[in-house]
Amino acid sequence: MELYIDSANLKEIREASSWGILSGVTTNPTLIAREKGADFRSTIQEIATLVDGPISAETVSLDGDGMYKEGIDYAQWHPNVIIKVPSTTEGLKAVYKLAKDGIRTNVTLCFNAAQALMAARAGAFIISPFIGRVDDVGVDGMGLIREIVAVYENGGITTKVLAASVRHPRHIIDAAIAGADVATCPLKCSSSR
Ligand code: G3P
Repeated sequence: MELYIDSANLKEIREASSWGILSGVTTNPTLIAREKGADFRSTIQEIATLVDGPISAETVSLDGDGMYKEGIDYAQWHPNVIIKVPSTTEGLKAVYKLAKDGIRTNVTLCFNAAQALMAARAGAFIISPFIGRVDDVGVDGMGLIREIVAVYENGGITTKVLAASVRHPRHIIDAAIAGADVATCPLKCSSSR
């Protein structure tokens, strides 16, 4: 299983990158806003100099056309940029159009296997089940990873399963055992801190 860092903080990303463990980076509007004064585009481009792998940049439009337009824009920032869209029907429309243009997407805010199946069929490169938030409402987040991995294996689907909303190191190991392709984690999940 690959490890991505869930952060837009350049110091954190530089530190984790220096350990040699990073295969990619995920960001979201909250993480970007935390870096006060930092410009979105230059932050993503700076991250691309630190990590050679997929870097997720999230759209904020509510409609598929708006997400698609944002995606077309972000994709020009760097070849490693992956367009993050929500797991909604409008998000599916954007994924489908972006995939036809050869642009990779990360479908985020996935809370059930039906969303994961539809995202994959629309052409998603990555699906991001939110295991911590699923746990928060009394459902089995790791069970969701197992379901999606089984659904994808049965269907011969190559969309990567990325465990997101990871809260602690045990989540990381359990996601790897469950067959996730990637886990994205905040730096505070590392056992050295
Ligand atoms: O990876 C998704 C993450 O940014 C949200 O995590 O802990 O707020 O549910 P959390």
